[in-house]
Amino acid sequence: MPHVVFVAPRFLENTNRYVRAFAALEGVTLSVVSADPESAIPEALRPRIAGHYAVPNVVDGEQLTAAVRAISRGVGRVDRLAGALEQLQTPMAQARDVLGIEGINSAVARNFRDKDRMKEVLRAHGVPVARSVLVRSLRELALFVGHVGYPVIVKPQAGLGSRATFRVESPEDLAALASKGALPTDAQPLQVEEFVRAREHTCETVTVRGVPVWRSGTRYFPTPLEVLETPWVQYCVLLPRDPGEEPWASFAPTNAAALAALFGEHASSAAGTALTHMEWFLREDGTALVNEVGARPPGVHIMPMMSMAHETDMVRDWAELIAFDRFVPKARRWAAGAAFFRGQGRGTRVVSVLGVEDAVAAAGDALVEMRAPKVGAARAEGYEGEGWALVKHASTEGAKRALKALIEHVQVRYG
Ligand SMILES: Nc1ncnc2c1ncn2[C@@H]1O[C@H](COP(=O)(O)OP(=O)(O)OP(=O)(O)O)[C@@H](O)[C@H]1O
Ligand SMILES: [Mg+2]
Repeated sequence: MPHVVFVAPRFLENTNRYVRAFAALEGVTLSVVSADPESAIPEALRPRIAGHYAVPNVVDGEQLTAAVRAISRGVGRVDRLAGALEQLQTPMAQARDVLGIEGINSAVARNFRDKDRMKEVLRAHGVPVARSVLVRSLRELALFVGHVGYPVIVKPQAGLGSRATFRVESPEDLAALASKGALPTDAQPLQVEEFVRAREHTCETVTVRGVPVWRSGTRYFPTPLEVLETPWVQYCVLLPRDPGEEPWASFAPTNAAALAALFGEHASSAAGTALTHMEWFLREDGTALVNEVGARPPGVHIMPMMSMAHETDMVRDWAELIAFDRFVPKARRWAAGAAFFRGQGRGTRVVSVLGVEDAVAAAGDALVEMRAPKVGAARAEGYEGEGWALVKHASTEGAKRALKALIEHVQVRYG
């Protein structure tokens, strides 16, 4: 009976889904590490949790290692250490290394977490990526611009949520980096890349011991960078009806090559059993470039979208994959999508939400679930927005129409 330790920072709605999924697996001993105290574990789950250990900071590798060690002493040998958040990937790898737990180790985690290293590894294996460099000074940055020209994109070496990611189009933009706190230094190098003008897609892949056994993909409308640069823009993620649809189908060999490169010699071990989230660019000329890959379940509602489109529960499927190295490929039955509602105007609170009823009527039967923005709510940070809706439809075009109707009707104002 595998003993799985799941790292749940807090017992919040989304995390509880994952805890519940592991708890529901027959033949699994489940323990949990959290920052929340034991009293915060939902009542219904308690009888299923063999061991619990709280640490103040679960993303601290040493604290996490101490917690997992304590659980292994109390409950028994730990077979799998799992967590869904990007920030957990490096500390979990550190704990696996120290405690001898199978799975993604620090060397593999680095391929996924360090954007510079990721691109180096991909390039070395012939996987197409944007030209990039890690710079430690403005001089080095200017030198790179001299080679590739403006615009370039700068981002943290281990970023997430598109935070501190900027487009640099001119010497003025370059000079302005200091005021944005994005000045490259020895202590805080910056990832710099040639700017790729392209449509942005994702490829979600299930690999079992390094072998891709299933894929799903989406497209972002517009790109996450445009969403961040344009605070008033609403945006959507679309999952097409047919897994053989282009451009996703043609991307499969590139996806396979990229994953093989990143898992490397560890692919055929438990490290290669994963659900990965790859973001990729499709340029006008039809060529694809890999942008980045997360060795974790995707965000921006792609998990529920995949669940709807394939009539399954992807969280449960992921838990089963991690615990048992097992995945039953799912057939696609629907197109799906997510719309994200964001506000217009200045201000720190939502002061009005209009058009929700019209949006619901216009989306019709395609609408599956909606969290309407709330008047009075504090303005959301990042790209997730003030509310969202999920749709599914028998055709890609139908899902697109429903998404368009939703974002055209819902109007949020800040004040
Ligand atoms: N080389 C590039 N050319 C054009 N746009 C880029 C490039 N690199 C990043 N971007 C834009 O910036 C966004 C964020 O970059 P990236 O995905 O590398 O960072 P991240 O912070 O890990 O993102 P997230 O966690 O939001 O997926 C991308 O989704 C894309 O829109
Ligand atoms: Mg990204």
